[in-house]
Amino acid sequence: MLLERDGEMSALQALADTAAERSQVLLVEGPAGIGKTRLLTAAREAANARGVHTLHARGGELEQGLAFGIIRQLFEATVQDALLEGGAAAAREVFEGPASGVGSEDASFAILHALYRLTVNVAESAPLLLVVDDLQWCDEPSLRALCYVVRRSEGLRVSVLGGTRPLEHFQHAHLIAELTRDPLATTLHPRPLSASASAALIGGDEAFGRASHDATGGNPLLLVELAKTLRTEGVAPEAGNVGVLDTLAPRAAARAVLVRIGRLSRAAAEIARATAVLGDDTALPLVAQLAGLDDAAAVAAAGELVRAEVLADQAALAFVHPLIRAVVYEDIPAHERALAHERAATLLRARSASTSAIATQLVHAPERGEAWVVDVLEEEARAASRAGAPASAATYLSRALAEPPAAERRGAVLFALGGAERLLHSHLGDGHLREAIELIDEPAVRGTAALLLAEGLVFSRRPDDAVALARRSAAELPEEADLLRAAFEAIELTAPIFGGSEPVSPERFAAHRRLPLPPGSGAKLLAAVAAYQWAFSGGSADECATLALAALNGWDLVRGGRQVPSVSATMVLVLADRREADAAWDEFLAQVHTSGSMWFKSAISLCRGYMLLRNGELAESESLLHDGIEELILGEAQGVGRGEIASWLAGVHRERGDLAAARRELEVVPEPTDASQTARYWLDSQAEQLLAEERFEDALRTAGDGVERFGAMTAIDTPFRSHQALALHHLGRRDEAVSLAADELRTARAWGAPSVVARALRVLGTVERADGLDHLEEAVACAAASPSRLEHAKALGTLGTALRAAQRPTDARDPLRQALALAEVCEAGAVAAHARTELYAAGGRPRTTALQGLDALTPSELRVAERAAAGQTNRAIAEALFVTPKTVELHLRNAYRKLGAKGRQDLAGLLTTV
Ligand SMILES: Nc1ncnc2c1ncn2[C@@H]1O[C@H](COP(=O)(O)OP(=O)(O)OP(=O)(O)O)[C@@H](O)[C@H]1O
Ligand SMILES: [Mg+2]
Repeated sequence: MLLERDGEMSALQALADTAAERSQVLLVEGPAGIGKTRLLTAAREAANARGVHTLHARGGELEQGLAFGIIRQLFEATVQDALLEGGAAAAREVFEGPASGVGSEDASFAILHALYRLTVNVAESAPLLLVVDDLQWCDEPSLRALCYVVRRSEGLRVSVLGGTRPLEHFQHAHLIAELTRDPLATTLHPRPLSASASAALIGGDEAFGRASHDATGGNPLLLVELAKTLRTEGVAPEAGNVGVLDTLAPRAAARAVLVRIGRLSRAAAEIARATAVLGDDTALPLVAQLAGLDDAAAVAAAGELVRAEVLADQAALAFVHPLIRAVVYEDIPAHERALAHERAATLLRARSASTSAIATQLVHAPERGEAWVVDVLEEEARAASRAGAPASAATYLSRALAEPPAAERRGAVLFALGGAERLLHSHLGDGHLREAIELIDEPAVRGTAALLLAEGLVFSRRPDDAVALARRSAAELPEEADLLRAAFEAIELTAPIFGGSEPVSPERFAAHRRLPLPPGSGAKLLAAVAAYQWAFSGGSADECATLALAALNGWDLVRGGRQVPSVSATMVLVLADRREADAAWDEFLAQVHTSGSMWFKSAISLCRGYMLLRNGELAESESLLHDGIEELILGEAQGVGRGEIASWLAGVHRERGDLAAARRELEVVPEPTDASQTARYWLDSQAEQLLAEERFEDALRTAGDGVERFGAMTAIDTPFRSHQALALHHLGRRDEAVSLAADELRTARAWGAPSVVARALRVLGTVERADGLDHLEEAVACAAASPSRLEHAKALGTLGTALRAAQRPTDARDPLRQALALAEVCEAGAVAAHARTELYAAGGRPRTTALQGLDALTPSELRVAERAAAGQTNRAIAEALFVTPKTVELHLRNAYRKLGAKGRQDLAGLLTTV
């Protein structure tokens, strides 16, 4: 009977009632023994009774390092071939092992997304409830998958119910917190039982009941265990026996279990220990074998344990409670425990159990230098790495190293271990990689290890060491390793950016700009690096974009795992206003969804989000930047990129007209004081923010700081001198303002991307006041030719404002009307509000409130509408464009409204005729 849980039970019943209609997340959090599992079980029954498909799993204390252990428990019984097709194919890796063909080192994002698709597929036939108990022991990749699914579950019928102990002491607490932070989530905190409920549970008279409550704090588990012990000890629950409670409860509860087991046969004690070592839910024959008993004896012994309420009454052996397992386990002396784990591993291996099961045992077994042990641990580590769980990979590999491996394999183990540690930003990684480089004979493999180490040195701000290593390693490479050689050269070229003391001559960069590129991916890699560098050192947008396109040509860079230069080259296209950037993002997305990492996905979200901000697609920019934040958290990327996101999100809010939100966003990260990329974008956003807040002195100072730290070439995407000019303009210092704005325009023209030139012209035209009309007109023409509707709207608005100031209200109306319409498409509230005010002041009225027709569609709306017109279902569109079905719906709804379509059937006609 469940006491005092009416509130919890009605919440759980409500979950079961509504699971068929909408997704929810419910967490039951509380200390050991408070009754979480009981509540979860009751909820499962309620859900099943209502036709909700429930899948169930439970975290195990020994199994926290097993990549996707929980996900496997959840889906193993339901997953069939058909469910693992299409977008879910990469999830085969989880169920069928790494042989399934996802071909990269870290496929963390691809696998996660595939698991989401699998969940969608399973939920197709009936609403789904995923129940995970003991979440505090859930492995990290499974937890990430749950977070990812929950984030996308709106509009699906997928609910999650979890049970967890208080999170403070657990490894992946931040991920569980992520789950509960979801807007769909609620958390229940079951309370200890009251004195009267405690008395009811224990039975007996009032005085004894009250004393039991005091002794146990009303914890149901302690009360239940106390009752069992009273029964076996033959103590009646009466006032006269209250003194007994001092020895039996509450800390004694643990010991009481051992006392209970002590009264049973020797065989029963052996079975209890073997079960504790193998973990809950192990089949009896294996437990029997480990306990050294035949099956008949084991069955009898297990029966004794069930009657003593130590083991649960079920076919596979399991303790009635994880705390009891822990008591029995910890009662085994440590060295015996280690040997038992070793025997367990050997038995599992003889039964051809899964690598995961064997590895779980081996981690706790003594070291003996066995080759097979190293094999198993290495294989499990590989699975963890590909799932994006470098921490568990490092655990397995450290254990493999301690085994130790045979001399000829040591290098490979160290390489893998150092690689995992590098991802964890652990300094141990450097030492391990260094030793690996000494040991590995195969030159290409040694080179790869050296590259990993060198890249780590660059990022940990030891660029000179990185350059020395890069030179040495490049010299040893075989002829054909051109990509590696190029990567080493790229380290030398970029070291100064990270504080390297040796300057790189301009000729060295120039050498990689020559077109056509020599054959091979190495030349493309260096072209990508050179294009990015050139963009900030006097190249023109056309030249740089041509070079970047050559670097991206054929996509062999990204397919070869060179994501950083691929993203850099694409950023060059963005800065050059080239629409080819979209093709690159699409290619990267396809790649990351089939075999890519969480890190790569976050880089794509960030950079594409930035592009959309520049172009004025604010809603979509915001949504991508938010994806980026989530991916940074899930990818444990140590906050790299958060500063950029804050700067850009602040931009989105500002353009929308929400200065307060923009200010809050900028303050999410501490002000960066270095000369990093992050600092550059942050200062830029901060300067614009200060201008918008009319804090002109501060804006002037901040923008000046930007120029000082980053020089003038940053005009192409962080126009500090334009900010300075505007600040000076408002401070009444016209001449200085004009001179700075004119300088900025020269740099912008040398670059030549239309949106960049338009912006510089707009600022110059503004600060020139009455003399600026020509520049403003040119700004409008320039912006019209750029992909940025936002810059176009701003140019028109500024021109209209200037015309009105010049006493030409009639001429002002048309640009203002256009500015308003464009700003509304962008949802750029700030520009729209300004244009509207000016328009009324100029005696005009908005013609219609919104732009209509094809022009009004954002590129994403257009893409979705085109696919819908061609007859694709929302779900197919969502899968093809890698967005959620909800996003597709949203785009379609907007497209219908803007095109005046009543439904899908009208789309085709409207898209071609408009
Ligand atoms: N409200 C209740 N009324 C009566 N018995 C209860 C109640 N809640 C829990 N129990 C009993 O107390 C014991 C412990 O409950 P349960 O296993 O659900 O705890 P838990 O919170 O899951 O603990 P853990 O964190 O260790 O997993 C069980 O035997 C259960 O049947
Ligand atoms: Mg429990």
